[in-house]
Amino acid sequence: MSKIPIKNRDGIAKMREACAVAATVLEHIKPLVRPGVTTQDLEEAGREMIARLGARSACYGYTHGARRYPAHTCISVNDEVVHGIPSLRRVIREGDIVSLDVVVWRDGYVGDNAFTVGVGPVSPLGEKLLRVTREALDLGIKQARVGQRIGDISSAIQEYVESHGFSVVRDMVGHGVGVAMHEPPEIPNFGRRGTGEKIKPGMTLAIEPMVNAGAYKTKTLSDGWTIVTADGAPSAHFEHTVLTTDDGPEVLTIPRPVAAQVPV
Ligand code: MF3
Ligand code: CO
Repeated sequence: MSKIPIKNRDGIAKMREACAVAATVLEHIKPLVRPGVTTQDLEEAGREMIARLGARSACYGYTHGARRYPAHTCISVNDEVVHGIPSLRRVIREGDIVSLDVVVWRDGYVGDNAFTVGVGPVSPLGEKLLRVTREALDLGIKQARVGQRIGDISSAIQEYVESHGFSVVRDMVGHGVGVAMHEPPEIPNFGRRGTGEKIKPGMTLAIEPMVNAGAYKTKTLSDGWTIVTADGAPSAHFEHTVLTTDDGPEVLTIPRPVAAQVPV
């Protein structure tokens, strides 16, 4: 038996709303990423927009061991891979690449998405890193077809990334998402075709390549959260929440107007 939760009609309807909120918040923050703003400014814009749309951050207070994540968004600059904590001291500069990760709760369901923004002219390496990571996400999503396996997503992402001379992070993986931020299955960005669980209709999967321009190794900063590349090379991260259907994968994290709603 599969451990991967299958959502019913009601669960899917609620996933649609949670994901629309997560995507709308992400879309709201993207154009604010400019030279001179701090990552705390982006956090505040995200926090306000999440509240305005009747949702709650799934990151704020998220526990890992004894630690609670202290912010509503994750903002990771350059060599930071994921889980960067917004800070008043971190000022965005021209040429930076800035990963924005927004995960929200709405009506009992979670929507999860991420995007990496280039600030002004970015180095050719940085531009290529953004393009390859975005395209790797698209290729992974295309594999999320009923009858295929989770490893087909993983291997499509890995092969594409490595064919461009970049590496996929091993320490963090994509995941099922639904009534919790992390549900089965794990969706590594590396693996072998034809392995892992079979994809069935009604799965909601957060597919999220984390791609390093250098080696795949990462380390955690002393704040206990921020993951950085061990070699200091830049890293990019793109993520969508996807619903599997008999008609193929459907990306749920698309911005659209959502009715404000009082959080429960
Ligand atoms: N999208 C991230 C993840 O799936 C969000 C983490 S929230 C944090 O791990 F609290 F851990 F930062
Ligand atoms: Co995620």
